[in-house]
Amino acid sequence: MAGRSDPRCPIAVLVSGSGSNLQSIIDASADSDYPAEVVVVISDRPAVRALERAEAAGVPGVVVDWHDFSDRDEYTRAVCAAAADHGAEAMILAGFMRILTASALDLFPDRILNIHPALLPSFPGAHAVPEAIAHGVKLSGVTVHFLDAEVDHGPIILQESVPVLPDDSEETLHARIQQVEHRVYPEVVAAFATGRLRIDSRLVHWEDGA
Ligand code: GRF
Repeated sequence: MAGRSDPRCPIAVLVSGSGSNLQSIIDASADSDYPAEVVVVISDRPAVRALERAEAAGVPGVVVDWHDFSDRDEYTRAVCAAAADHGAEAMILAGFMRILTASALDLFPDRILNIHPALLPSFPGAHAVPEAIAHGVKLSGVTVHFLDAEVDHGPIILQESVPVLPDDSEETLHARIQQVEHRVYPEVVAAFATGRLRIDSRLVHWEDGA
């Protein structure tokens, strides 16, 4: 589709694994009207499926290997430098399994997004899906939020609920949650890229009222 006049917002997508959310953003950005462009994919480890997806899409993939660093802040700065070196103006965390320090917030202020497979503030951390099942909740879901200095805590941009069924395993619930993730994350990234998200303390306002 031709005719987009505004430049696209250059984004880095940070990954650690399968990269299905990365794929949903790459697929959305195949439309030249989509307001963001993935300029680099950064992984905390080599040889993950997400890097193959990047290569298949012709997007540079960079490994900033967690094991090469002894200091979390040094690691954070290296990740941010890799993003900035590729011209990224925002970092989109998509299954990235490392905790970044506040340096990332200084370098990309209000320009880091994360997606979490639960309705925060319930079930933060790396085991949200099995913990939701073990707790017996009837609804879980998806949260997209801005990063702040605490883990899985920043201002919430969007949430959508997903039912937890009586016979759900971690795999079946996560698959149902990911269906929603793949639809909403590209939409939120587009809203961010077009400046439609305004942060007011913990509240995120969608300027078009959505
Ligand atoms: C997603 O479910 C996301 O919510 C969580 O990690 C998972 C990443 O999946 N943070 P993928 O790598 O995008 O397939």
